Amino acid sequence: MKALICEAYGPIDTLVVTDILSPQPGPRQVLIEVRAAAVNFPDALMVQGLYQVKPPLPFTPGAEVAGIVKAVGDEVKHFKAGDRVIALVSTGGFAQECLAEMTRVMPLPPDMDFETGAALVLTYATSLHALKDCGHLQPGETLVVLGAAGGVGISAIEIGKAMGARVIAAASTDDKLELCRKVGADETVNYSTENLKDRITELTGGKGADVIYDPVGGPYTEPALRALAWRGRLLVIGFAAGEIPRIPLNLVLLKERSIVGVYWGDSTKHDPGGHIANLQQLNAWFAAGVIRPVVSETFPLAAAQEAIAKIANRQVKGKIVVLPND
Ligand SMILES: NC(=O)c1ccc[n+]([C@@H]2O[C@H](COP(=O)([O-])OP(=O)(O)OC[C@H]3O[C@@H](n4cnc5c(N)ncnc54)[C@H](OP(=O)(O)O)[C@@H]3O)[C@@H](O)[C@H]2O)c1
Repeated sequence: MKALICEAYGPIDTLVVTDILSPQPGPRQVLIEVRAAAVNFPDALMVQGLYQVKPPLPFTPGAEVAGIVKAVGDEVKHFKAGDRVIALVSTGGFAQECLAEMTRVMPLPPDMDFETGAALVLTYATSLHALKDCGHLQPGETLVVLGAAGGVGISAIEIGKAMGARVIAAASTDDKLELCRKVGADETVNYSTENLKDRITELTGGKGADVIYDPVGGPYTEPALRALAWRGRLLVIGFAAGEIPRIPLNLVLLKERSIVGVYWGDSTKHDPGGHIANLQQLNAWFAAGVIRPVVSETFPLAAAQEAIAKIANRQVKGKIVVLPND
């Protein structure tokens, strides 16, 4: 079978598609024919050796897939060959077949296609965990989403609206902000051309935002924090801009603001019950048409490297997906 291979940590253009042996499932593993594998920002960091997790080399990147079960290990009771599934795999997704631990596999809902299934869980589960469990977002509160047209950003807009918040989307181009409005943002800020702090303050009538969802970091975090209301919460999701901001803590003291870290992957281990409840909530919202992942582009496996470069270069709207068996 064909797979995208990272032989050595380094530039994204050194990734190659090559033939490797089909993997065999261990006792608690499921072998999946991958029909769609979503691209996430950490894939780009991981292949360059810049992510907190450094898989042993060589490895195949790709963290979330949807596909059809080909075979299962002896201890797997809930899945069988032919089942349509979604799986979180951390690595291995950009390949025609991949292995998943049985506890990380879930059924693909009957009314969901493979592309949507691959694009749903990582971003939407991150945003639901962030806004509900970490940010305690309340109906009627104002939520500001930075990097709002990206993968986690679009999911935060949709979930913020589903939780009853007023949502202000902030992004770098008008084109990206148009998409944010389309998926439900009430207001927008173009942080390439407008002053982020001043605009949030203006849009909230001087009060400031209640919750900031920040997957970007860099120069955007501090002005956003300065625009948080009394007892507002800044959710630290990631640092897509590349720089981890250093924040003067007087900004936190002065308005009893909170800075809250969000690490969805590990949170699922600390609170597996809460994770399952969140997945059920996402399925219910999807069935009701409340959330709808935006897949803006698909790529064949031969162009998976191009897809990863696109996300690293700030060129993606919503999610992009690799289709390894097309
Ligand atoms: N904490 C968690 O549990 C968790 C879970 C999932 C993802 N994450 C993190 O969340 C971040 C975003 O992930 P994602 O998949 O949503 O990525 P994405 O789709 O690429 O979105 C990131 C956004 O960041 C903005 N950005 C600003 N400067 C950038 C730069 N120099 N390069 C690239 N993007 C830049 C871009 O929006 P503009 O052009 O509009 O500024 C882009 O749309 C990543 O750091 C990822 O590791 C964290």
